[in-house]
Amino acid sequence: MFGKRGVNKSFSEASQPQEKPQPQAKPKPQAEPDSVREDEPQQREAVQAPKPAPDRDSEPAAPPQEPAARMDDIQPKQAAPRPDKPARARSEDYYDVKTTVFTALIDTIDLTQLARLDPDVAREEIRDIVSEIVAIKNVVMSIAEQEELLEDICNDVLGYGPLEPLLARDDIADIMVNGAETTYIEVSGKVEPASIRFADNGQLMNICQRIVSQVGRRVDESSPICDARLPDGSRVNVIAPPLAIDGPTLTIRKFKRDRLTLDQLVRYGSISPEGRTLLAIIGRVRCNVIISGGTGSGKTTLLNCLTAYIEPDERIITCEDSAELQLQQPHVVRLETRPPNLEGEGEVTMRDLVKNCLRMRPDRIIVGEVRGPEAFDLLQAMNTGHDGSMGTLHSNSPRECISRLESMILMGGYNLPAHTIREMIVGSVDVIVQASRMRDGSRKITRVTEVVGLEGDVVTLQDLFVYDMEGEDANGRIIGRHRSTGIARPAFYERARYFNEEKRLSDALSAGEVQDESGRPLGEYVG
Ligand SMILES: Nc1ncnc2c1ncn2[C@@H]1O[C@H](COP(=O)(O)OP(=O)(O)OP(=O)(O)O)[C@@H](O)[C@H]1O
Ligand SMILES: [Mg+2]
Repeated sequence: MFGKRGVNKSFSEASQPQEKPQPQAKPKPQAEPDSVREDEPQQREAVQAPKPAPDRDSEPAAPPQEPAARMDDIQPKQAAPRPDKPARARSEDYYDVKTTVFTALIDTIDLTQLARLDPDVAREEIRDIVSEIVAIKNVVMSIAEQEELLEDICNDVLGYGPLEPLLARDDIADIMVNGAETTYIEVSGKVEPASIRFADNGQLMNICQRIVSQVGRRVDESSPICDARLPDGSRVNVIAPPLAIDGPTLTIRKFKRDRLTLDQLVRYGSISPEGRTLLAIIGRVRCNVIISGGTGSGKTTLLNCLTAYIEPDERIITCEDSAELQLQQPHVVRLETRPPNLEGEGEVTMRDLVKNCLRMRPDRIIVGEVRGPEAFDLLQAMNTGHDGSMGTLHSNSPRECISRLESMILMGGYNLPAHTIREMIVGSVDVIVQASRMRDGSRKITRVTEVVGLEGDVVTLQDLFVYDMEGEDANGRIIGRHRSTGIARPAFYERARYFNEEKRLSDALSAGEVQDESGRPLGEYVG
């Protein structure tokens, strides 16, 4: 059963340094949307500080691109690590003009009044005034350049400044702003420098403030860490100086408007068709599931996919730190934790939410991310008639997932013997689904593992479905295959039968098998 191929070492290599060459300067002369501080236009010397060797790209910050996060669009391995300071030479004139126009604009209008207007009306207002200023000041600009300037100034005044074009792109998974000058984005699983910059850290801080104030919070030196959510659902984290040494640091996990489905994951090669069927059955027959994976490995996405198989008549309660799940069922209650206020009061933890859930007559409880003592309450819930509950957990393998659960329960101050905790885990969790971000940037489901029992003090796990990595092609893309491990009757077979799914389950498992030379199915790999 064990050990046909020792391949899984690569699963923990997800975050290997990913290198790219510096983009070549493109000849197009015009204006990447950038900005100046709306409150201190006189700061423009800072923006315009001379900089040698302007060799970065000059394309517009937000070229609309092909569909989101295509794992099959992975680019060849390339070299050159950090982005240098963003391009300036091309846009020196642009920034000059922009600062002039901007200064004239804020002399003309009252920005606070403007902010109270409907955004579309305000945008129109700004457009009219900016066009007038451009005409009065006799600025020489093409229509396209003027459009760009208008857009840019509107973004600064009404929106999130230089972030706007990145926020508008649907192919970006993460935006990572490391101070005013350096921004990275993740596109198609690869992290790359983005061609935007902020006027200075002051402007960046203003934008961070604007973002977090929408959820009633404040970020400054005295409370420099803050989580928030954008109106479109994107998850935001801000950490400001003095904690962030090189300037305000903003991390945005972009909300995907078109949520991924298991079928799309098959198309992206994240799972095989048989694996998809297996996962769909696991979701439908009310197995208790923990989705395990590293940062950004696709845990939340997978959880979302699995919830699609919940029956519409079930009452589902979701608990999250920042509401990311997009359940389609009609009967869903969404709960969100709350950080403490400035006086350190009013915090509502994940544990409080999960405990409270139990008094809300849930059929299923879904916990966005289990990272502390709420593990105990979730397992209790799984154990006490809330079959089909699910959660994600940060770990690199199903085995590690079990020990993380154990230590989270201990962290909660429960003085339980290890054996009792393990019994509890075995009695509650049916399946662990492992998600991994591979070193080529693709996300894969690398294992579907059952928690089958306790042998002595050791929790026994059984892989049902695994991903064998076989190498990589000339472009650095991972080559491999998903297969079932030859287990014909998983421990949840009876449960599947109860839901009339046993045939589909057996068919999927046997169709996913791969035989060795002697005709026997390949078993679990050595992990
Ligand atoms: N199988 C997949 N194929 C392509 N893109 C994916 C896949 N799974 C997830 N993604 C994309 O990867 C990004 C991260 O996914 P997700 O938020 O689900 O990860 P996560 O593991 O929950 O991250 P975190 O640890 O930060 O909570 C998202 O933009 C998502 O759309
Ligand atoms: Mg997540």
